[in-house]
Amino acid sequence: MIPPIPRYLVPFQPKRIPHHFVDVMILGGGIAGLRAAMEIDPRLELLMVTKDRMRESNSRYAQGGIAGVLAPDDRLDNHVADTLAAGANLGDRSVVEQVIHEAPDHIRQLIAWGTRFDEEEGGDLMLGREGGHSHHRVVHAMGDATGKEIIRAMIHRVREELQAQIWPNTFVIDLLTHEGECRGALVWNAKHGKTFVWAKQTILCTGGAGQVYRETTNPAVATGDGHAVCYRAGAVLADMEFMQFHPTVLYIAGSSRSLITEAMRGEGSQLVDSTGHRFMPDYDDRAELAPRDIVSRSIVEQMAKTNHPCVYLRSGHLDADWVRQRFPGIARTCQEFGIDIATDPIPVRPGAHYMIGGVRVDPEGRTSLPRLWAAGEATASGLHGANRLASNSLLEGLVYGARAGAASSRAAMEEPDHFRAIPLENSMETGGHENLDLADIRNSLKSLMWRDAGVWREGETLAAAGQTIDGWIRYALGRQLSGPSGWELQNMLALSRLIIEAATLRTESRGVHLRTDFPETDDDHWRRHILLVRGKKPTFVEV
Ligand code: SIN
Repeated sequence: MIPPIPRYLVPFQPKRIPHHFVDVMILGGGIAGLRAAMEIDPRLELLMVTKDRMRESNSRYAQGGIAGVLAPDDRLDNHVADTLAAGANLGDRSVVEQVIHEAPDHIRQLIAWGTRFDEEEGGDLMLGREGGHSHHRVVHAMGDATGKEIIRAMIHRVREELQAQIWPNTFVIDLLTHEGECRGALVWNAKHGKTFVWAKQTILCTGGAGQVYRETTNPAVATGDGHAVCYRAGAVLADMEFMQFHPTVLYIAGSSRSLITEAMRGEGSQLVDSTGHRFMPDYDDRAELAPRDIVSRSIVEQMAKTNHPCVYLRSGHLDADWVRQRFPGIARTCQEFGIDIATDPIPVRPGAHYMIGGVRVDPEGRTSLPRLWAAGEATASGLHGANRLASNSLLEGLVYGARAGAASSRAAMEEPDHFRAIPLENSMETGGHENLDLADIRNSLKSLMWRDAGVWREGETLAAAGQTIDGWIRYALGRQLSGPSGWELQNMLALSRLIIEAATLRTESRGVHLRTDFPETDDDHWRRHILLVRGKKPTFVEV
């Protein structure tokens, strides 16, 4: 059982904190947040709050691309079928169909807004292929810098054309709620300290949570703050057991754990073990192009069989100049460590990549809390089921960002302007006077999550990990910590506990959730989502 998690992270008294009023507030500046911003009626006052610089988000680091049916030999039904198959019988068919059908238009719109996707010589879009896709359908930019290019073009539009108000380097401490509705957020930045931002409508697009794991492709900002603030505010969270592990993360002591895009395998690169054996055909007929849950699991098994800490991605059989030119960013990163990606095997192993679970949203991006909308990686929309298909994540951010933006804009337009602060107050006992070594708890948590809630999980070790985290929660969550690093850790502890809880409850293996003690998929009992709400028992809903 999840231990009590305090409602707010910090005490506050409205008289001592400045108040700011907007019509719509967007939390997060990745693809979902930017796309939402573009739907807000220009007559409304819009504020975007980003945790770091505007451009720093998981979206920016996306390498592979955006999936959409654009090739003449492809069909929408193929993309739908691939998405549902990857999702291991837990995806919501109607959501999948709607999103996949909208994909081509969203991609064309990005081009109209200035995104420069890679093209073939004749000017057609160059389409890549990735694991789980039956056809070439992934648009990409600058080889392996798709996220960077999309975010560049979108930020330009939001800044220059929409002239949105932006608060960068601003941490969202908590959502403010009153009588069961979201009224905005308590935020902090170095310039103004704590500020109440009262918003008629709030859209949460805070992204992922890979940083709760020791091995991850995610940047430092991805600590799951949005998941934690939603939980504390009482919103329904779903599918928290489904953290997706990307199969190929660069594994070199001292390097960042950079993503080695799945598109490399799409172009023909092969996985070999430490003896040089190409092992993926032993596990799946689709070999390196099996969905990523299967590839990650196979890599882990092969690492165990060979008693070696990684496997290798080799491209020596492909045209060397083409490989370097197609993946310039990866070539640059690996070159720093003396690896030529065209000729040398790249050491890789899985790492936490994408949080499938999150705040539950309906097809318009509406959460269970009135006046709170959400889009992108912080949500559970039903698109990904139990395993996300490669390059469907930027797509989800676009589709749901647009929907949540449009719906919240309509709602804000309908609301009268006499919108006032609510006399919210939070006094809390702040237990403990000893300074906590935050870095020590953070590192211990990340190692624990990697070991006990990683690619493979097991009931007994999940239970022990839960108890350890409960102990940390007891002494770290009841304290008043004074800045982002402390609040981030408090969020990571709460979020990890939710992952452990859901992983414990799901006594089967499905998609990215693998239990050594329950290795089979159990459709009779578990074609269900696990819903978690603060202060309530978990509930289960059929797909
Ligand atoms: C990759 O480039 O392999 C990652 C793309 C994705 O996560 O969909």
